[in-house]
Amino acid sequence: MENLVKRDILRADQFSPDEIELILKTARGYAGELKRGTESVRMRGKVLSTLFYEPSTRTRLSFETAMHRLGGAVISVAEAKSTSVAKGESLSDTIRTVSGYADVIVLRHPQIGAAEEAARATDVPVINAGDGAGQHPTQSLLDLYTILEEQGRIDGLTIALVGDLRNGRTVHSLADLLANYEVSLRFIAPEALRMPGEIVERLASRGVSVAESADLGAVLPEADVVYMTRIQRERFDDPAEYDRLKDAYVLTRAGLAAAKETVTIMHPLPRVNEIAADVDDLPGAAYFRQSSNGVPVRMALLSLVTPG
Ligand code: NCD
Repeated sequence: MENLVKRDILRADQFSPDEIELILKTARGYAGELKRGTESVRMRGKVLSTLFYEPSTRTRLSFETAMHRLGGAVISVAEAKSTSVAKGESLSDTIRTVSGYADVIVLRHPQIGAAEEAARATDVPVINAGDGAGQHPTQSLLDLYTILEEQGRIDGLTIALVGDLRNGRTVHSLADLLANYEVSLRFIAPEALRMPGEIVERLASRGVSVAESADLGAVLPEADVVYMTRIQRERFDDPAEYDRLKDAYVLTRAGLAAAKETVTIMHPLPRVNEIAADVDDLPGAAYFRQSSNGVPVRMALLSLVTPG
């Protein structure tokens, strides 16, 4: 079996199928321990540093919870303006400094490629918790874990990714990860927010079945999973363009009457208007279970990459 010790987690397309299997299996083990209330000491004596230069609720808190659950310690920067970044320090100097304190680093940064840059500056494992409109590989692993939990399989599913596919890093990573399976992908976005061509081409070259459209209604009846996303306001230069597109897709309970009875509805959260509150108590509304799954999946990642 593969091992991931000292590996950086930077992009979803870096993983082999065996590595994905190892992460999922390890996460399942931790989910069982959490359920039974078993205390883990795997990371006792280890320190995680979380550096978040963009807002976050779930990603930072679930990484920190994961580290605490593993018996480790956490040092955290939630606001760049409270650090020497505000004095003009470069990312690589900050990372080299933090490497002297921590055994593993989790970084969220507004620039595409920031995690790669950070990883080049240190031998300590760096985990990308979102690099601008680039990638969000740990989210895609918990998304994959959630689909498996909810649907019992990945192969054979029709999965619709909906919303801001241009700027949404979660869907970029999820599409890359799903390319390892026999899935039919449906990309639903307004023309201006289509999935980047580079990703569509990468999927085509891996033989993945992909259909693009702007019409959610037409795709809803065939979808096993509907993955909604927020229109990424912070990536728009023109507020009028954001206003034009912000309510492009709103999933309602009435609208879901056209969907399969077994449909799984997902969202990385935070939601704005994409899913009406009346959807929340449908059995297939999985988004809060999805965010809980962040803990065992991130426990798996932290314990797999950190040297013993
Ligand atoms: C996402 C993100 O930060 O990319 N949130 C998350 O990590 N759960 C999605 C978003 O912000 O829309």
